[in-house]
Amino acid sequence: MVRAVLLLLRRAVSPALVQASLFSYSVVEEEVWCCRVAPMMDWTDNHFRTLARLLSKHAWLYTEMVVAETIVHQKDNLSNTPLFSKLVEATWRACQKRLHLQTATASMKLTSICWKAMSAISSNCDVPVSVKCRIGVDDHDSYSDLCDFIYTVASSSPTRHFIIHARKALLNGLSPADNRKIPPLKYEYYFALLRDFPGLKFTLNGGITCMNQVNAARKQGANRVMIGRAAYNSPWITLGQVDAAVYGTPHSGLSRRQVLEKYQVYGDAVLGIDGPNKPRIRQIVKPLLNLFHSEPGNGLWKRKADTALRHCSSIQSFLEETLDALPDAVLDSTVATTLPDSTATFANVDGSLVAPFGQKQEHLVACS
Ligand SMILES: Cc1cc2nc3c(=O)[nH]c(=O)nc-3n(C[C@H](O)[C@H](O)[C@H](O)COP(=O)(O)O)c2cc1C
Repeated sequence: MVRAVLLLLRRAVSPALVQASLFSYSVVEEEVWCCRVAPMMDWTDNHFRTLARLLSKHAWLYTEMVVAETIVHQKDNLSNTPLFSKLVEATWRACQKRLHLQTATASMKLTSICWKAMSAISSNCDVPVSVKCRIGVDDHDSYSDLCDFIYTVASSSPTRHFIIHARKALLNGLSPADNRKIPPLKYEYYFALLRDFPGLKFTLNGGITCMNQVNAARKQGANRVMIGRAAYNSPWITLGQVDAAVYGTPHSGLSRRQVLEKYQVYGDAVLGIDGPNKPRIRQIVKPLLNLFHSEPGNGLWKRKADTALRHCSSIQSFLEETLDALPDAVLDSTVATTLPDSTATFANVDGSLVAPFGQKQEHLVACS
């Protein structure tokens, strides 16, 4: 029985997410304004988050997802407790400060699993919980379908925060990567949710590429935004600008050379710490490879990096061997403070484009 439920959980609800607490972050923004970096499997590992934290003190960082089944299987002494309690207990012990569940909005069965999971999670720990979901799946993609999901989960469990990836998922025929590009973004659904569920919190996710777009979304009423690929693919111009452009605090003032010096100390300290070749130098260097995105010398640096990774045995030697490919002006400049104009992204998108949800949700009161 437990095995069947586990499989269902894995297929339907998918993984639980836990937010990184390895690095300090500011909590005061949570209620007022928040810019998050999305969970991305194989990307938002410790190494990337270390780099991200050097670039921004304030952006909220998510770990990679932890698959519920994996967590449960790693624990051997919890066999008499219900599945979700086991999940929570194990996750809570292993981790962190907040817990997020990723799901899709589709059938009643998924909705029911989601609220039951969230209820069990909430009753077993006192951390804030949230659900990350797409706006629909296949033909279940109307605004009303999305509202039914939100309404049911919020009214049946203590969930008060939803992270809305503003694309639906197409389950047949599209790769995960194409599913992040091909289904159109429907930001108007997000803004309609803000209008129709004033007691709940919603974070906007999907297709946001720069801080100006974050601020444009904010002007339109979004007070929580999550950035995924752009934060990973061009960390200097996204994460490097978050603190000043979004939070109004000074940015770190570090040049990329200084960032690399600090990262090298971290990298050489963790190299091989989990046994021979774990982590490998290649894993530690991976997040650095986008640090010079679009800059002069980037192509040459990447080629040199490729060669150096075949024989270097420390981050220090890797940097010594490769950094001369980059001009001093690139290495020593601090982050630019002028931002490209992208206010157009949300100019004509608001909740008024979508008919209001009919249900009564006055009783869905906000909770922290
Ligand atoms: C490589 C990669 C891995 C991802 N892994 C996850 C994941 O494990 N869980 C999840 O909820 N979303 C995952 N996502 C989706 C992101 O969290 C985010 O919702 C999506 O990329 C849309 O945001 P963006 O347009 O800003 O990239 C992943 C995205 C990428 C690119």
